[in-house]
Amino acid sequence: MEAVVAAKPVINVAALCGSLRKGSYNRGLIRTATEISKESINGIQMEYIDISPLPMLDTDLEVDGKYPPAVEAFRQKILESDSILFASPEYNYSVTAPLKNAIDWGSRSPNVWGDKAAAIISAGGGFGGARSHYHLRQIGIYIDLHFINKPEFHLNVFQPPAKFDSDGNLVDPTSKERIKEVLVALQAFTLRLQGKN
Ligand SMILES: Cc1cc2nc3c(=O)[nH]c(=O)nc-3n(C[C@H](O)[C@H](O)[C@H](O)COP(=O)(O)O)c2cc1C
Repeated sequence: MEAVVAAKPVINVAALCGSLRKGSYNRGLIRTATEISKESINGIQMEYIDISPLPMLDTDLEVDGKYPPAVEAFRQKILESDSILFASPEYNYSVTAPLKNAIDWGSRSPNVWGDKAAAIISAGGGFGGARSHYHLRQIGIYIDLHFINKPEFHLNVFQPPAKFDSDGNLVDPTSKERIKEVLVALQAFTLRLQGKN
């Protein structure tokens, strides 16, 4: 008799890039993650959410309980997602200003991040952005995001051999495999939080 294997429920992952730079390596990591989720993992639907249209947070922009249109659209995308993939460099040992701005807009009432699973991947200098992971995890406490602990992914982009091509696409097979492991862990943790596995 054939074994019946239940299909995994599909999870929607919102992917946010903390760098606004056109040739961002971190956005390159998101392209790789999207490719991997399409080609070699069942049950992940990844959507890149652009944070560049968001205005700088100013609570004077909140009128009659409404946020500016770009903020409303962003908040809706986060609400519709099951989990979050952050791909960001560190700026001066911490979370980048554009990413913190996006997080802060999402935290305005009602907080749209609550109870979602999350994972962090990063590319940068020295420690590959790793120091910002701990600040991001700390921010997650107040807004009720639940980060996977492991595996951790932080990649030094300046250490030879080159890990990216001239268009900012990740070309290093080992890093691709490690990103896949992050996605598999995020998927499992998301389903666990939702009581679906
Ligand atoms: C304002 C600023 C501060 C930075 N601070 C750090 C830092 O603290 N640690 C680090 O590893 N890289 C730092 N960098 C370098 C970035 O990690 C590097 O430029 C990286 O490629 C940016 O990511 P992106 O390619 O996704 O834009 C900094 C860059 C900028 C613009």
